[in-house]
Amino acid sequence: MSERSVKAEALTFELVKDAEIFRSYHFDEGLHAFRPAPRQYAAVLELLVDGQTLLSVARKADLVVGYVIATPADPRERWGNTPIAPLLRDTSVEVSKSYRHGGTARRTLGAMVEAGALEPYIAFATCFSWHWDLSETNGDPWRYREMLYNVFAPYDFVLTPTNEPNLTESPVNMLLVRYGSGVDAEVRETFQALCRDTSRDPY
Ligand SMILES: CC(C)(COP(=O)(O)OP(=O)(O)OC[C@H]1O[C@@H](n2cnc3c(N)ncnc32)[C@H](O)[C@@H]1OP(=O)(O)O)[C@@H](O)C(=O)NCCC(=O)NCCS
Repeated sequence: MSERSVKAEALTFELVKDAEIFRSYHFDEGLHAFRPAPRQYAAVLELLVDGQTLLSVARKADLVVGYVIATPADPRERWGNTPIAPLLRDTSVEVSKSYRHGGTARRTLGAMVEAGALEPYIAFATCFSWHWDLSETNGDPWRYREMLYNVFAPYDFVLTPTNEPNLTESPVNMLLVRYGSGVDAEVRETFQALCRDTSRDPY
């Protein structure tokens, strides 16, 4: 087992339901893929307090080294400003650099899925290459994409075609989607139609 896998073994993976519990944790400073760690911590806390967001973490005692967050769809984005928006959760993942590779991201996502938290929702991950730390794959975005796919695919996220303009901006971007067991066929079809709705394409 590699040194990194040993680190992952020593972590606790859990769904965090309570903002008060999250307040007793802090973020590892290596969690800065989206914004600096203290600001990201504050943003996650605010979302959790709001009650619409799902969060799972990988932590060592009170130090969070990875998280998966599933937030309501942004109303400015294609899926957000629609009647099915309450049934959607936009999912993203981050692991601090020294805790990567050992399955940390996958197991953090696993904590959310295995708790059943995503079952009422269509969870989607908009994977934009401009958020990626390509040093992980020697600058190769396609290998990075495959790695990311390997985080989500074991939990039934499927690669989904779309003409959403931000996603089509780069061929390496991808949309991954998971249909919760509580999502009925009509909602599923509406979501799939939205993915390829040319009337929403500004070009
Ligand atoms: C993407 C990210 C969350 C992955 O975290 P991680 O803890 O390394 O992921 P995991 O270890 O769970 O990886 C899942 C699989 O990919 C493999 N993997 C991880 N990093 C890899 C790498 N650099 N090269 C090849 N394979 C890799 C793992 O070994 C595992 O493979 P397996 O299924 O054969 O066991 C992490 O790199 C990160 O935080 N990056 C910055 C933020 C980011 O890109 N977020 C996604 C935004 S769309």
